[in-house]
Amino acid sequence: MAGNAERNPVKLPPWWTLDPVAEFRIGPRAFPGRIWTASGCFAYGLSGHDIASSEFDSPYTGLGAVVTKTVTPAPRSGNPMPRLCELPHGALNSIGLENVGYERFLQETLPELERRGVPTVVSLAATRPDEFGEMCEALQSTAAGYEHWHGVEINLSCPNVAEGGHDFGRNPETVARCVAVSREALPDRALLAKLTPNVTDVAELAAAAAEAGADAISVINTVIGLEVDLESGLPVLPRRYGGYSGPGILPIGLAKTDEIVQKTGLPVVGVGGIRTYQDALKYFALGAVAVQVGTAQMEDPFAAARVARDLTRA
Ligand SMILES: Cc1cc2nc3c(=O)[nH]c(=O)nc-3n(C[C@H](O)[C@H](O)[C@H](O)COP(=O)(O)O)c2cc1C
Repeated sequence: MAGNAERNPVKLPPWWTLDPVAEFRIGPRAFPGRIWTASGCFAYGLSGHDIASSEFDSPYTGLGAVVTKTVTPAPRSGNPMPRLCELPHGALNSIGLENVGYERFLQETLPELERRGVPTVVSLAATRPDEFGEMCEALQSTAAGYEHWHGVEINLSCPNVAEGGHDFGRNPETVARCVAVSREALPDRALLAKLTPNVTDVAELAAAAAEAGADAISVINTVIGLEVDLESGLPVLPRRYGGYSGPGILPIGLAKTDEIVQKTGLPVVGVGGIRTYQDALKYFALGAVAVQVGTAQMEDPFAAARVARDLTRA
């Protein structure tokens, strides 16, 4: 596949002065760069090692972090098929957090990520706030000496079973509880709270997360969407609704980032709709400290590496 540089010369604006592949800090950790891959879109971060390209040594070239697929207290087999539906401006997914469970992840996956030197942020989800604390404690006791494990991103888009099934991410008090128990277990790793865009006041949630000890906010997770099959007249996804991602949600990710930066001044890791360096620049223009590439990484495993390269001044 031809790179951007061949198709379209990179033109960086004069205000862009950051080096995306230089070390920078989030809370207690120094990350090796500001261009990351988003959770769920690059598996656990191990599968890219077999992919070759004439443009890059590997899909990890220039990456500041790989955010792993979200892991949960028990393994999950995910939702019924179909789970992914491609749309003209993005994709609708209903994967249902299929994952190996955090015990197997800690025994097999994280040690391998460390051995291969992949800068890693572990994504966690749970259905009770105290489960976040338990998983973070287990992480800390297994991986305290790891050099490449930089932090945890708490995925706050799951139903909260202990409190009646509403999403964790929609209630500032529950967000704060999940963050507080995680912070207690993670004294020296970066703690990020990943928020849903499916709320009216995302800045209020961000402020609650920071108050409880989060070092930064990742926004956004997917936007609730639905696609209809005209032949049958039924929703395409068996669960009716899915999470919409890709280019179509870029303006939503930018708006949520802006709301948080303007109202709280907190460090934001921008996610949503990024395919190119221009998309990433828009987040940085609004004050994001780093960005994550999601759906684009599933189409092209070098998408994030290309963004990092294109944003680096010669
Ligand atoms: C197939 C797929 C699976 C995803 N799985 C997760 C996940 O496990 N945890 C999570 O926090 N976000 C997950 N996401 C959301 C992405 O990390 C990201 O927040 C969202 O897709 C918006 O970014 P994008 O437009 O660049 O894809 C997933 C997205 C897709 C498309």
